[in-house]
Amino acid sequence: MSTDLDFLHRYVPGEDESGPTLLLLHGTGGNEEDLIPLGQDLAPGAAILSPRGKVSEYGAPRFFRRLAEGVFDQEDLLFRTHELAGFIETAAEEYGFEGSKLVAVGYSNGANIAASMLLLHPGLLRAAVLFRAMVPFEPEVTPDLSGLPVFMAAGQMDRMIPPDNTQRLADILTEAGAEVDLRWRDVGHPLTCEEVGEAKDWLSRTLPTLSETLDNG
Ligand code: MLT
Repeated sequence: MSTDLDFLHRYVPGEDESGPTLLLLHGTGGNEEDLIPLGQDLAPGAAILSPRGKVSEYGAPRFFRRLAEGVFDQEDLLFRTHELAGFIETAAEEYGFEGSKLVAVGYSNGANIAASMLLLHPGLLRAAVLFRAMVPFEPEVTPDLSGLPVFMAAGQMDRMIPPDNTQRLADILTEAGAEVDLRWRDVGHPLTCEEVGEAKDWLSRTLPTLSETLDNG
């Protein structure tokens, strides 16, 4: 596991030191800047950690390699997931944010590595917002994600993410104990304002619950 802050990244401190931190994970061709306005809109005042994926697909940053559209290089996916988890732990120490209040917000390739982290490092994330996600891999061992809140937004007309694959991911997470709120819309791959609004509502209800649970327990 990597122990250095060796991802290009942005960190934006939160207004409240003991508040949540959003881990922003961009889609293919994005970078560490892309989702910052989205994160600030979704959870105003939250701290933000936004790394850039290290894999380059003909110059387009990604979080792990793929062999074809929707066909992932499993060996690289495992390696990159552990590597990113190591970066997050180091960043939490370096910047002093509460690692236990880390909420992933991922889009497409970023949502897929967030899902992979949920399956491989079940204690790392406290909640997750997955926009346009699919199954990163079928877990051999079901992780314990009891009570972990997950918001998913998916498009029935998405040509990159087959709807049944998103549904399968929701089922895997639900079987692991996560509280999955999966929203479907008659839209394609790009995210819509309505979905951002739904995620914002969901976060405004979910984030205070996370703090209460932690502070009381
Ligand atoms: C992927 O991880 O490859 C996504 O499913 C599609 C994309 O991000 O382009």
